[in-house]
Amino acid sequence: MNTLQVDLGARSYPIYIGEALLGQAELLKPHIKGRQVLLVSNETVAPLYLEKTLAALTDFETASVILPDGEEYKNLEVLNQIFDTLLHQRFDRQTTLVALGGGVVGDMTGFAAACYQRGVPFIQIPTTLLAQVDSSVGGKTGVNHPLGKNMIGAFYQPQSVLIDIETLHTLEDRQLSAGLAEVIKYGLINDLAFFEWLESHAEELLVRNSQALSFAIARSCHNKAQIVEKDERESGQRVLLNLGHTFGHAIETGLGYGQILHGEAVAIGISLAAQFSARLGWINDTDVTRIKALIEKMRLPTQLPNSLTIEQILELMQVDKKVREGKIRFVLLKDLGVAQIIDQYDPLLLRQIMVNC
Ligand code: NAD
Ligand code: GLY
Repeated sequence: MNTLQVDLGARSYPIYIGEALLGQAELLKPHIKGRQVLLVSNETVAPLYLEKTLAALTDFETASVILPDGEEYKNLEVLNQIFDTLLHQRFDRQTTLVALGGGVVGDMTGFAAACYQRGVPFIQIPTTLLAQVDSSVGGKTGVNHPLGKNMIGAFYQPQSVLIDIETLHTLEDRQLSAGLAEVIKYGLINDLAFFEWLESHAEELLVRNSQALSFAIARSCHNKAQIVEKDERESGQRVLLNLGHTFGHAIETGLGYGQILHGEAVAIGISLAAQFSARLGWINDTDVTRIKALIEKMRLPTQLPNSLTIEQILELMQVDKKVREGKIRFVLLKDLGVAQIIDQYDPLLLRQIMVNC
């Protein structure tokens, strides 16, 4: 097992990464404060891993909530199911919530924990690659609104993150690829050596070689932890983690939640951001080809969906959290492995990039 630490003073926590970690009571127990535990999962993940997880919690009074599966259920109405159970079963202020599932379950459980009785502890047990490399680390929690993705939420750090890479064996290929989009992101914004490693280990990751997955997950979590430690609440450097997300969130919202995977939308967004960066003269066309080749190698899309117009995407990007005084800001690439935020650009250039995508 590999243990990383997210260093945030009183809010610091460990990330455990390894095989067969689910069911190891000693990894959960030290992070549970009271005697009550509410496990939150969904209808796909619960039949696979709920029993094993509950077996590690026999010292506690436990209950579980099984949410419907899908991005379209990441909303306030479904969130209420968690509060209903907590209140009906008289869970007190010492309750610990445990999120068992992908990013949707993790974001919703974390937000419920941030709100219930003004804040109870929670633990992340991410079971998708995307959640293991990104959403379970760093404390962003929340739900979607019909007008914008993740627009309602809170920064709220977990007590610990337990990553059992064996859970990835039941994940669909398409979901594995979606997670790889966020992995590529770390290489591009912060870690050229990792980007190069991904270029030469793509096949191993796609066939789920344990060593390759462990390395990629640990390196991604390390990169994310470093950024979050410097800028927990996204007032500066953390914004760079949004490479590809301005376009990506607009695509997800425009198509309707659940129509395209988050990682797929981010992959298209990264590809657009690369082209934008090249048009500004920051990276060259060979870099763009290299980035798109890696995205495609990971079986991810690079083209905008035909069903959305450029006008629609531009309008949706106006709801992005990075918008300042009506100006859409983009994370672009100054170089491979170096990201930068930009708010001064020619709007015509932005249109041209989207037309050509
Ligand atoms: P997801 O939670 O919808 O999971 C994808 C699918 O895989 C679901 O059908 C799920 O039930 C299934 N699944 C999960 N684990 C499985 C397993 N081990 N075996 C088989 N099936 C399994 O999607 P996701 O890609 O994990 O997360 C996307 C969400 O994360 C989005 O809502 C996005 O906004 C959010 N996100 C948040 C952050 C953050 O910092 N908080 C970062 C990135 C993404
Ligand atoms: N996924 C972006 C962030 O955590 O800041």
